[in-house]
Amino acid sequence: MSLYVVTGGAGFIGSHLVDMLLAQGHAVRVLDDLSTGHRENLDARAELLVGDVADAALVRRAFEGADGVFHLAAIASVARSNQDWIGTHRTNLGGTVAVLDGARAAGAIPVVFASSAAIYGDQGEVMIDERAVPRPSTAYGADKLGSELHARVAFGVHGVPTLGCRFFNVFGPRQDPASPYSGVISIFAARIAAGLPLTLHGDGQQTRDFVYVEDVVRHLLAGMAVLQEAPQAVVLNVCTGRATSILDLARTLARLDGRPLAMSFGQARAGDIRASLGHPGKATAMLGVRATKSLEAGLRVTARAL
Ligand code: NAD
Ligand code: UD1
Repeated sequence: MSLYVVTGGAGFIGSHLVDMLLAQGHAVRVLDDLSTGHRENLDARAELLVGDVADAALVRRAFEGADGVFHLAAIASVARSNQDWIGTHRTNLGGTVAVLDGARAAGAIPVVFASSAAIYGDQGEVMIDERAVPRPSTAYGADKLGSELHARVAFGVHGVPTLGCRFFNVFGPRQDPASPYSGVISIFAARIAAGLPLTLHGDGQQTRDFVYVEDVVRHLLAGMAVLQEAPQAVVLNVCTGRATSILDLARTLARLDGRPLAMSFGQARAGDIRASLGHPGKATAMLGVRATKSLEAGLRVTARAL
């Protein structure tokens, strides 16, 4: 049994990870400021420290006695990074540096952290692998790329093993349907269930690689095992290798719900990526894991959980 810290553990992805760590018999300490996460997401067996991940002194205390860290705390919304550049930067990059520093102080314990497909920006209609030159088009993407760079430094200078997971578009139960800053699937599913029309930003032809949350958790756990076996600094895609347009997504959700699709087209979001599709090959080779849940099967579970 090990003790793992999960930053952002009360959030969507983090709370699923906590469930799996507990199921494997580990002890879990969560550091979360509950800004977008919820106490109700958390299993009562997890210890919860409510606080700011960019508070370096608090982070150091939170990491005492830990065997490893999963760093997921961030302001996950690209739209919010457009609106609140300074605030999201403080959390998204400042928080990562505080976490890496805390891991150094705790004895160079391994850190598996959430990066993002947003670091790639627009690369055209290609299946992107990790060798692509990053071109983030938003503050959110720039801070995730900055996090990857600091994670390299953490290993090179301080011996802290790091593995960055470039999540593509994650979906599943507990992605907050109430927040306008949530992921498109939770927003669309909740609106369809309530009989409300959808707004598609732009022409709806932009594409995303949607990956189910439990598949993501399996990558995170395998990533920690790899770092424990072979300390290194590495980044890899967490994706399916299948692209879906936002318009097709809307149609599929309406069909599954058995309702006619009511929608309108609004302004495209500034900095919105046109095509996003990941190559999962490196993760499969390195972690021995691949995403297996189909979009439709995942959507059914997500809609049922609303
Ligand atoms: P989420 O908003 O549900 O989870 C983020 C958690 O971090 C929340 O519980 C929130 O309360 C907490 N948090 C935010 N600011 C904090 C702060 N200053 N101090 C402490 N805690 C703070 O979002 P999520 O979708 O679960 O995202 C988890 C991670 O994965 C984030 O780093 C996000 O950027 C990344 N990511 C998500 C996706 C996706 O599609 N959901 C894709 C790529 C990357
Ligand atoms: C998402 C994640 C981000 C992650 C990135 C990785 C969230 C909130 N954001 O960003 O953390 O790093 O994937 O690829 O989980 N859209 C509409 N109508 C809506 C809402 C969205 O048309 O009501 C469109 C958006 O303009 C965008 C697409 O749907 O083109 C996806 O949007 P969103 O779910 O916010 O995700 P990303 O911006 O891709």
